[in-house]
Amino acid sequence: MMKKIAEATAYIKNIIGAEPQAGIVLGSGLGSFTKEIKIEHEIPYGDIPHFPISTVEGHSGKLIYGELGGKKILAMAGRFHYYEGYAPQDVVFPIRVMKFLGIKTLLLSNAAGGTNPSFKVGDLMFITDHISFLTPNPLIGKNEKELGTRFPDMTEPYKKDLIAKAKTIADKAGYDVKQGVYIAVTGPTFETKAEYKMVSILGADAVGMSTVQEVITAVHMGLPVFAVSVITDLGIREDENVITHEEVLQAAKEAEPKLTHIFKELVAQL
Ligand code: HPA
Repeated sequence: MMKKIAEATAYIKNIIGAEPQAGIVLGSGLGSFTKEIKIEHEIPYGDIPHFPISTVEGHSGKLIYGELGGKKILAMAGRFHYYEGYAPQDVVFPIRVMKFLGIKTLLLSNAAGGTNPSFKVGDLMFITDHISFLTPNPLIGKNEKELGTRFPDMTEPYKKDLIAKAKTIADKAGYDVKQGVYIAVTGPTFETKAEYKMVSILGADAVGMSTVQEVITAVHMGLPVFAVSVITDLGIREDENVITHEEVLQAAKEAEPKLTHIFKELVAQL
């Protein structure tokens, strides 16, 4: 694995020629965020040695290097999901590569179903904590000491100082952002009513099919994380519970300007 990371890192480094300050992972329907980036290089995933290839609609599948908020950043337009059939180690491979390319902070976004009854479609939720145990832990297997310790501490996976900074940015802009716990499921099915109820009882405010494996990998490597869920549907309501991928993409698109503003200002402050 270390050899694969080194080869992918060397390939990208040769193209971008400099160290990015932050890495950004964009969730479903959130790819037009990249319009805010002063793009210097776009690298299709298929060109990068050992990178998996994204197959989901709404994920364009390229690594973008450029300037955002006065900082050099790497943005993943499209991520890899466990439900696509990748091993957890493949899902998190790009996070490891970005760390070796020099990023100092990781920002992630996702589309998620709200299970907290006070949430509305289109809300942004800063993730304060997560529940991982419904998806496989990406650190299962031989531990690479160069990446991190065998038993990583997980008391503060989402850095409080980054959440506080983002909250100040949101308040200034007049956004009513929520905060809460994200639970990862494998998907690709959306939850049944009983499953929405279950994850809510387990302590989650939002449920989605990504992010947690990436965050575990980042924390393993000592990389500070900030993550936001865009609430694209509400699973907990008792009435019509039909959720489509199109609805999720549409809701994400509408919330995107707020997310973009917060990420941009936060990157500027890093
Ligand atoms: N459940 C799981 N993943 C999701 C959802 C959901 O309701 N909405 C968007 N991604």
